[in-house]
Amino acid sequence: MTDIIHAIDISAPTISDEPRRITQVRPWLGEAEIDAVIDVMRDGWITEGRHAQAFCEKLNGLIGSTHGVLAPNGTLALALGLMALGIGPGDEVLVPDTTFIGSATAVLMVGAAPVFVDVEDQTFQIDMGRAGQHLSPRTRAIMPVHLFGTACDMTAVLEFARRHKLAVIEDAAQGIGVTFGNHHVGSLGDVGCFSFFADKTITTGEGGYVACRDPAVHERLRLLRNQGRLQRGSFIHEAVGYNFRMTDLQCAIGLAQLARLDMVISRKARLWRRYRDHLAGVPQVRVLGAAPHAGHVPFRCVLMAQNVRALMAHLEAAGVETRSFFYPMHRQPGLAAHAGAPPADDAAFPNATYGWDHGVCLPIHPTLSIAEVDVICAAIADFYGA
Ligand SMILES: Cc1ncc(COP(=O)(O)O)c(C=O)c1O
Repeated sequence: MTDIIHAIDISAPTISDEPRRITQVRPWLGEAEIDAVIDVMRDGWITEGRHAQAFCEKLNGLIGSTHGVLAPNGTLALALGLMALGIGPGDEVLVPDTTFIGSATAVLMVGAAPVFVDVEDQTFQIDMGRAGQHLSPRTRAIMPVHLFGTACDMTAVLEFARRHKLAVIEDAAQGIGVTFGNHHVGSLGDVGCFSFFADKTITTGEGGYVACRDPAVHERLRLLRNQGRLQRGSFIHEAVGYNFRMTDLQCAIGLAQLARLDMVISRKARLWRRYRDHLAGVPQVRVLGAAPHAGHVPFRCVLMAQNVRALMAHLEAAGVETRSFFYPMHRQPGLAAHAGAPPADDAAFPNATYGWDHGVCLPIHPTLSIAEVDVICAAIADFYGA
């Protein structure tokens, strides 16, 4: 048992002589998480219990929300939030064209249609200057997605939503620790939805959270997530609801992760600065950073790069796992038959298309070492002959 614990305790990354592949994602799990899981197992209460309650309280404190509920993952957190706000069949929801597909499929899951809006050319966040072009009498909501560890222009989103009487569902799946102005993302819309998948700033393996302010929305969230009842153990169901619960095992891991959030944020910031400084001398690449008025807890280190597919192949050959930029929603084969607006061509989404054509994601997980960042940057400089 002791050996296993040491084998996976990677709290202090080591430098070995063996060249090792630098993976895109490596969750930071240590003895605190193992102890937390063992504690729950010994306790015997493995469904949502005291750890779930403590996790929600800590999340509300961090996000600055008065209420919130857990969800099995970020996609279902978005679907739950949409349902609680009454979004359903016949409704349209504005969604950025650059995002993870879960933003769009959550809208489809509740029977509504995603309508895509191009993103800004510098930040790749939803372009509120273009959102108005996509309004229709069916538009009921907007889903700003806080991408790559920084934030959308929430001042513009909230003003637009107020003017057009739209609900705001913040997709903050990548946004733990990220601020817009003095606010944590996910606290400004009607609901804010988070993911705790293994590549996120804190992880519970799979998991999600829906934060909100309005007690009536909170009550609908509670009914919808627990089979239409507010009390566990009752077989009288006041409403139609489903099972969107997590486990206390996951929540205990989440509490251990939250305890080192500050350390994760400062490590990511240090790694990002190293990338920025090293790549400043490579004119063929641009390192994406914080959006205006927003904080930055880099989810990935995103570059806009010349000849990006060849660069990715070069990095793969050098033992560095890369990820592409998000494939634009308007091009997704699986969404073609579903999206609310008529099929659009790349010309209607120049920035999302540019991002796909030039973007590459580099690892920036908190157990990456500075030496590994240096290896990656050297491989990039080598590729461009810089
Ligand atoms: C922007 C965005 N939205 C939604 C999701 C979906 O979250 P999950 O994978 O937990 O369902 C993700 C996951 O990466 C995401 O990045």
